[in-house]
This record gives sequence, structure tokens and C-alpha cells, in this order.
Amino acid sequence: MLTLDLSKATRFLGADAMKKFEAPVAEAQKALEECTCEGNDFLGWMHLPSGITPEFIAEINATAKTLQQECDAVVVAGIGGSYLGARMVIDALSNSFGWLQASKYPRILFAGNNIGEDYLSELIAYLKTVRFGIINISKSGTTTETAITFRLLKTMCEQQRGKDVAKKVIVAVTDAKKGAARTTADKEGYKSFVIPDNVGGRFSVLTPVGLLPIAVAGFDITALVKGAQDMERICGIDTPYSENPAAQYAACRNALYAAGKKIEILANYQPKLHNLGEWWKQLYGESEGKDGKGIFPASVDLTTDLHSMGQWIQDGERTIFETVVSVAEPNCKLEVPFDAENLDGLNFLAGKRIDQVNKMAELGTQLAHVDGGVPNLKLTIDKLDEYHIGALIYFFEKGCGISGLLLKVNPFNQPGVEAYKKNMFALLGKPGYEKETEAIKARL
Ligand code: PA5
Repeated sequence: MLTLDLSKATRFLGADAMKKFEAPVAEAQKALEECTCEGNDFLGWMHLPSGITPEFIAEINATAKTLQQECDAVVVAGIGGSYLGARMVIDALSNSFGWLQASKYPRILFAGNNIGEDYLSELIAYLKTVRFGIINISKSGTTTETAITFRLLKTMCEQQRGKDVAKKVIVAVTDAKKGAARTTADKEGYKSFVIPDNVGGRFSVLTPVGLLPIAVAGFDITALVKGAQDMERICGIDTPYSENPAAQYAACRNALYAAGKKIEILANYQPKLHNLGEWWKQLYGESEGKDGKGIFPASVDLTTDLHSMGQWIQDGERTIFETVVSVAEPNCKLEVPFDAENLDGLNFLAGKRIDQVNKMAELGTQLAHVDGGVPNLKLTIDKLDEYHIGALIYFFEKGCGISGLLLKVNPFNQPGVEAYKKNMFALLGKPGYEKETEAIKARL
């Protein structure tokens, strides 16, 4: 269901480079399994897929059905790990132009992930024209971007639909006990789902954080979870090092990092996978970028970005490596047509599938990049469906856990994210930040 080809990456490494990582990977796997590593209170994602029951899925699907029946649009309010996974899956599975067509499912809109006044104003203007609901997602329940959005939309939803309907179409996904989102949900009587204490935001897509919006969008979360369950087994501690894709991926990227490759570019050849790059960047960036270390995660959409970033990748500083996510078979079929005049000279392609052209662009690019000194890892999934995306999610999560431990950082915290918040609160005069306000004023 997922294959990883490292042959065009390992040729940039010494003969025994991958072998050298076998013991450290085994150690990392063991530490994750036995919960003995740093950040061991955030390992709930490890066996999350196999712990998901049909009853739990049914509960999520029942809530999704209510939102589907009552709403034309559902706003997912959340930031970082509280929205990137859902957005990635929904985009990967949706019709590229679905937003232009009538659908039996609500349109899913993402907000609470920025503080753009125009963004929020324009969202509100649109929501005035439709019956909308809200999924308010925040583990801490206090994140500023999400809280501002929820404050605006909650009042609007209540005014527009009345308190009783609003109660049905506002759902909270948050901590079991603490935080403003929990307090509000309990006070107002909203349906709520719990984000487990031991699952960090960026590892939470297979909790209701991701599953509920994905189900509301009309996708099969049972198949998504099944893909993740199968990958949990495949990447498990009992799978030998050479056959374990997550272990191989983690080892290879760390070997490349040690060899001076400081940037990993995740490349896709399917526009629907743009947000896979956004989700992956958060997962790896927040997990590994600490203590002055970490591979910088970047992403490109190809062939589109070959006409913008292609020059840099081919010819810029040789500190990069590339991981290509390839989809073996698209869901649709389309051929290049024959044209009698052939003014564009494209008749040599007539009758060929568009995907055949795309695949040759992919192969040609891969070979050119390798020739240009860019190690290339290739990850192939059979097709874009719930099952394969579920497998991809778990593969990247497990790879990230192992990789962070190989790098000798705590992959499960994010202390660096607090720095901007402290300054922002001090600048905005938040009560309790008086000392910081004085200190920051002196620096301006
Ligand atoms: O991965 C993480 O932990 C973060 O990106 C969080 O998901 C993000 O900061 C949002 O936090 P919260 O869900 O508490 O609003």
C-alpha cells in the first residue's frame, strides 16, 4: 500500500550509513514502545489507531450527520495541529473544484488559524448567506487565534439560528476538563469530544480533531482509521529494520542530515496534496526544530513549482534532499487529444494519459535533481483514498517519533512556540503580563 524507495538517496551516503542507524533506531523504537523517552507523556498517538473502536467511530459519524443535516457550511476553528490534519485529508480526498458545485455535504471552511481582519470579515459576510455550524477545536482551549474566531462566530450563530439550533450545530473538541473551550461547551451544553491528554496537537489528526471534520465532509473515517491501523502494524517494533518504512525513512533522513543535508523538501505531483506538505511541515518542524538542531522542512507542489523553485532545487546550495510523495494511479482518466493541425507540436503525446505525462515529468525531475546533487527519497501510495491517506498519516507520525529521538531532541514538546505569545500578550496589555510589558516597551 506504501513503498519507500531510498536507492536514489543512499548513493549519496557511505556504504554502511544506513546500517549504522540500525541500533539507534532499535533503541528509539524501544523507547517509544516502552514509554521511556523524553516526552513520554505524549505517546498516546503510538497505538491510537488500533485503539479506535467502531462505537467511537459511530459516535463521531452521528455528530457529523447532525451537522450535515443542519448546515450548508461548517467552520472548523483551530490552528496548528488543531486543523492542519483535517485540512490535509479533506483536500486530498475532495474534488479539486468541489467548492464550485452543489454538494450534499456542508462546505468545510477553516478559520481560527490566523488573525486577519479581512479574512474574518469576509468569512462573516459569507456566513450571513448560509446556515452554518462550528467545530471549535483547541486542546488548550485558550489559543488566541481560535478563541477570537470562536467568540465572533458563536454570537453570530446564536443570533442567526437561535440558541436551540446553535446548541446543536456548535461542537467542541477540547480537553476533558480544563480551558475556556471546555468551560463554554459545558455551560452551553454543546456536544463535545475529548482530545486525549497524551496526544499532542500535531499528532492528533486521528482523534476527533481530524476525524470529525473529515466525517462532516462526507469521507469514510472507518477506512482512514483502517489504513492507519495497518500502518501501525507494519511500522511496529516487531518489523525488521530493513522492512520497516518508518524506521528506514527516519534513518535515511538523519544520515543525510549528518552528511550536511539540512533541508528536506517534500514534493508532490498532485495539486490535492498541497496541504499534505503543510501538515507534514508542522509535524516535523515543531517536533525536531529545537536545541539548535533540526532538518528544515520545506514543501513544493510539482510540476507547478518547477517554474518557480525548480532552479533553486536543481542548482542552489547543495544542502537539500527531496522526498517525493507519488500516487501510483489517479482516480480519473483523461488522455491528451489528437489535433489535426498540431500547431503546438503535441501530437507525439496524443492518446497518452495525462498521468503518463505527469509520471515522466516526475521521473525526469527526479533524475535531474539526483544528477544535480539532490538525494531523492520516493514514497509511493497506490491511490488517493481514505485508506491510503490513513496509512500515510501513521507512517509520517511514526517516522517523526523515531527521527526526533535519533536527533536527540524531545520530539513531543514545542517550547519555542511560547515566545511570540509572551511578547504579543505583553504588547496587548494582557492582565498578568505587566512586567513583560515594561520590559518589552524598553526594547522598542
Ligand atoms: O502541535 C501543537 O501542539 C500545536 O501546533 C497546537 O496544535 C496549536 O498551537 C493549537 O493549540 P490548541 O489546540 O491548544 O489551540
